[in-house]
Amino acid sequence: MATDDIKQIIDATDIVALVSSYNIKLDKQGKNYKGLCPFHHEDTPSFLVSPEKKLAHCFGCGGGGDPIKFIMQIENIDFQDAIIKLAEFNGIEYKSNYHKKENPNKKYYDIVKMAINFYRANYEKTEYGLEARDYLLKRGLTDEVIKDFNIGLAPKQRDSLYEVLRDSNFLELDMVDSGLINNENGYHDFFIGRIMFPIYDEQGNPIGFSARIFDNKDKNQPKYINSKESMIYHKSEVLFNFQNAKGEIMKMKRVILHEGQMDVIASYKSGMKEAICTMGTALSITQARILYKYTNNAIICYDGDKAGIKASLKAIKIFKQVGFNVRLVLLPDGMDPDEYVLKYGIDKYKEYFESNLIDEIEYQYLVTIMNKDFSDNIVFKEVCNQIFNLLFAERSESIKESYLKRLAKDTNTSYDAIRFDYNSFIGNQNVNVDFIDDYEPNEIVPETIKEVWNSIAELRLFIYAKGSKATAIYIDQTLGDDLNGFKPKTANLWTKLVYEYYMNFDKFDEGLFVKMLSAEEACYYTEMMEAVSKSNIEPYNQEDIQNCISKIKLLSCDAKNEELKRKISSNNTSKEKQFEYANDVFQNKKKKLQMSKKK
Ligand code: CTP
Ligand code: MN
Repeated sequence: MATDDIKQIIDATDIVALVSSYNIKLDKQGKNYKGLCPFHHEDTPSFLVSPEKKLAHCFGCGGGGDPIKFIMQIENIDFQDAIIKLAEFNGIEYKSNYHKKENPNKKYYDIVKMAINFYRANYEKTEYGLEARDYLLKRGLTDEVIKDFNIGLAPKQRDSLYEVLRDSNFLELDMVDSGLINNENGYHDFFIGRIMFPIYDEQGNPIGFSARIFDNKDKNQPKYINSKESMIYHKSEVLFNFQNAKGEIMKMKRVILHEGQMDVIASYKSGMKEAICTMGTALSITQARILYKYTNNAIICYDGDKAGIKASLKAIKIFKQVGFNVRLVLLPDGMDPDEYVLKYGIDKYKEYFESNLIDEIEYQYLVTIMNKDFSDNIVFKEVCNQIFNLLFAERSESIKESYLKRLAKDTNTSYDAIRFDYNSFIGNQNVNVDFIDDYEPNEIVPETIKEVWNSIAELRLFIYAKGSKATAIYIDQTLGDDLNGFKPKTANLWTKLVYEYYMNFDKFDEGLFVKMLSAEEACYYTEMMEAVSKSNIEPYNQEDIQNCISKIKLLSCDAKNEELKRKISSNNTSKEKQFEYANDVFQNKKKKLQMSKKK
């Protein structure tokens, strides 16, 4: 269709009416309208609708755009279908003679779909299928659940799926690219003699399998084999059961993250259908971001054993980085949900789950003090240190106090003593100057970037501040305003800019942040971020935050003194002023000395 027609359809659009028709509440703000973004979860509106420009765009996630782009995204349809929808909305007759271009991955989805059907049939109709069924029923699955998850069975023959696909005229190249067929000394199946759990992507397309052995003869075989990375299967994005859980996650306003698919199925059986798991990998930022589009409440329920606890601590970090509220359930006796359900049944499991939900601080406290012998001084000190670190990031003084009290009780110490230790811990945190001189700017940051920073400490603080509003406020307050001696190379201290940004928004968004910068700063920003992406700076490190703040304060003192000394020796300075400046230098030196002494 001619672009003129499309332009006419767009021009006729009342964008406010269009957006409102999707149940999105908009408030007028000057010429524009603002609302909560339909493309990601948020509490403060950053979705902007401009009638004048006919744009509906989210500054938080970058979603939306012109009316067509908006419809494409919200309906999850392609360009042509979006035009038809929009024409319809505007009451304009529009006949598309456009032949739809197929999704280039469709052939792979078709292959996986055929494999799902084949494995299902093989499960339903063979002797070997009965063996598999025995196993699954023994593990507490029902025929209904098996069907709900489309669980199947890969035959023992090496080329059964291959033959089926070949008979359906799929190209061998595509079979191999789909990840289901190997090409080593001829074509043969990737999955052999395993129970098959199909995996779908966010849109519900079938993309691969997780496969478990069940007739355990060969002890050397891995328990699970998953689809390998392919054109459609990307393990850092995959979430088992997400296609089913998506609606439930939105309804329940929470997502449950498990370690394995048997655990997801255990939750599903117990009526908690908002459960998902990653496929044999740690939770990735990408996966967390996908989930965040649907909810901001995450519940981690991994195995209650050592490995599960370790993985939980990692997942807490990832979820928090993305902005989730994180709660956890710690199952007793190192059990996983699947084992718990098998032992106690679904009702007990659900009851235990709902009444043992704890927040991430409580969880971290519990697992830190768990099974520790506090009569061993080394253990005692280490545990205290870990708890102090945990509380250090907490902003509420009352929460801090209540945990310090508990720690005193749990370790059989007095609160006063624990508080004393905590205070000296904080004192140590404040000034630890030695480290800093290790961070030479050119160590991490390329030459071109160096000119933006006086000190690598400023760069680090900038990264930390970006991470969350709470951190940005903390850094800004702790740095204080008395940093006259520390002259940022650009007009503003970068942490100050982040702080100002967070005074207007709750979530950090690069696009929005850049808009706030001066032209000069914006130029630097892109280069800087490129350098940061190549650096080894962690997104959050509380100890380092303290160190960097101290460093900047020290630099500020030094710089101030240099400036004062210059003034003192200038001919234009009166004797009186010289005396005053000299006194300032003295005071600054004293201050600096105090800062270094505290350590
Ligand atoms: N996993 C995997 N590859 C392996 C082992 C495990 O991908 N070799 C993944 C699977 O998704 C599995 C999850 O990690 O569901 C948890 O593994 P594990 O703790 O070994 O699960 P179990 O509870 O022991 O497995 P099952 O309940 O099936 O006996
Ligand atoms: Mn298990």
